[in-house]
Amino acid sequence: MWITLVENFHISPVKLSELEAIEKRVMGESGINSYTLQPFAHYAKIFTIELTPGRPERCEGGGEILETESLTQNGGAVPPGDNTGIIVSPAFDIDGRRKVYGAAEFIRSFSDLGHVHLFGFYVDEVLRSSGAASWFLNRCENSLKRGHSICSIDLSVAEDNLRAVAFYRKNGYSVLESVKDYYGSGRDRLIMNKKI
Ligand SMILES: CC(C)(COP(=O)(O)OP(=O)(O)OC[C@H]1O[C@@H](n2cnc3c(N)ncnc32)[C@H](O)[C@@H]1OP(=O)(O)O)[C@@H](O)C(=O)NCCC(=O)NCCS
Repeated sequence: MWITLVENFHISPVKLSELEAIEKRVMGESGINSYTLQPFAHYAKIFTIELTPGRPERCEGGGEILETESLTQNGGAVPPGDNTGIIVSPAFDIDGRRKVYGAAEFIRSFSDLGHVHLFGFYVDEVLRSSGAASWFLNRCENSLKRGHSICSIDLSVAEDNLRAVAFYRKNGYSVLESVKDYYGSGRDRLIMNKKI
């Protein structure tokens, strides 16, 4: 199994529907649909994490492969050069009908071109606790830094999303402030940031 980081540009219809489906399932009411995903890909930045049984040669969904690595299933022999550190359940089998298993959506600031807001970030349930989310976030950060001169990232997260808050903390994000009613009445958010 191969894990791949893709930078998306114009997203193909097949990939748009894959992304819509995973957004709806994983992000619920804060998920976005094709009408936002496509302009995001054109004018902001969407990275996806994709899984394939074999090494992907090219990107069919309208993106560029930035990185791809072989992924060892739990209990399997570690192939030479495997350094992802990602451990997936041996019971997990790739769903042949789709490739997208997570997305990271960034908006660049108008007032500070070195700054981005991480608007949405998620991985599929099958990749939780595997190390894939940290692999993904770390590679997005590296790409933004090297390819686009980004040096700081902020994000907002629900205070009661303890898993996500712990995830961002362990990846070097700190809490800046807590904003009441950030997304409307009762939807308070923590603002976190990181210098990269
Ligand atoms: C947020 C997300 C990307 C993190 O990926 P993940 O694979 O679940 O993250 P990890 O397992 O690497 O890290 C989560 C950490 O939180 C900890 N954790 C889990 N549940 C927790 C809880 N209830 N309270 C506190 N910490 C918790 C885990 O132990 C782990 O820390 P550790 O590695 O030190 O043990 C993923 O959970 C996800 O896609 N969630 C749904 C979408 C979402 O909430 N996105 C963020 C919106 S801003």
